[in-house]
Amino acid sequence: MDWGLRNRLARIIMPDTGRSVMLAVDHGYFLGPTSRLEVPRKTIMPLAPYADALMLTRGILRSSIDTSVHNSIVLRVSGGTSIVGEDLSNEGLITAMDDAVRCNASGVALSIFVGSKHERQTLLALSQLVDEGHKVGMPVLAVTAVGKELGKRDARYLSLASRIAAEIGAHVVKTYYCDGFEKVVESCPVPIVVAGGPKLTEKDALELTFNSIKAGAVGVDMGRNIWQSDNPIPMIKAVRKIVHEDATAKQGYDLYKKLCKEK
Ligand code: R5P
Repeated sequence: MDWGLRNRLARIIMPDTGRSVMLAVDHGYFLGPTSRLEVPRKTIMPLAPYADALMLTRGILRSSIDTSVHNSIVLRVSGGTSIVGEDLSNEGLITAMDDAVRCNASGVALSIFVGSKHERQTLLALSQLVDEGHKVGMPVLAVTAVGKELGKRDARYLSLASRIAAEIGAHVVKTYYCDGFEKVVESCPVPIVVAGGPKLTEKDALELTFNSIKAGAVGVDMGRNIWQSDNPIPMIKAVRKIVHEDATAKQGYDLYKKLCKEK
């Protein structure tokens, strides 16, 4: 791996802890103005100081994020579908690699839809992205999409999708927590970050964070469970404590409650 690619990766997975808190705010790429992300700047900017990386599209980056932020940028570069369209798995590349470089991205992210009728096209797009990324030293994060029509969100399916992503050359895999998650981590030879999924109680989301780290994930790429919380800043601080300071779920939740009281 060349220096540039390793340097970019080190801006996503922090070298001092080997962990990462990524704030996922890319949902609008197929969901439009998602609840509590209607005005991206208002949601994202107050949380940015507590995230290592921001995961978002180039449109939101250019329109809504100050150039002075400290965060590394992981650019969502797959899309082309919408929640009212026919098939969410029918994604293609929506951003060229040279534009990702212009955006000073530290990584690019693409979803794969293993088990869907567009499985092949999304896996070939991943392969193309890895090849283009290597030309400029850009790491690729593969997101294992889940959905009704895909496999169950269990260790068997998530191991399959994560391993395929790593085999094709993804540098980091983003997937979902499940029972037996250790098996998913063990059989995936590249670092895994966990998505938060639909909104849970804060206590449950912090447990999910703790369990993911305990099972070997290097961090989270979390969205709704942070910015759909009534207390997003206490929530992201609690997530950070678990991810970067090895706090337990209880210690994280105690911090969350304490910060809410102080507000
Ligand atoms: C989904 O494909 C999007 O890429 C989101 O970034 C991802 O689902 C993580 O966000 P959340 O924690 O809200 O699930």
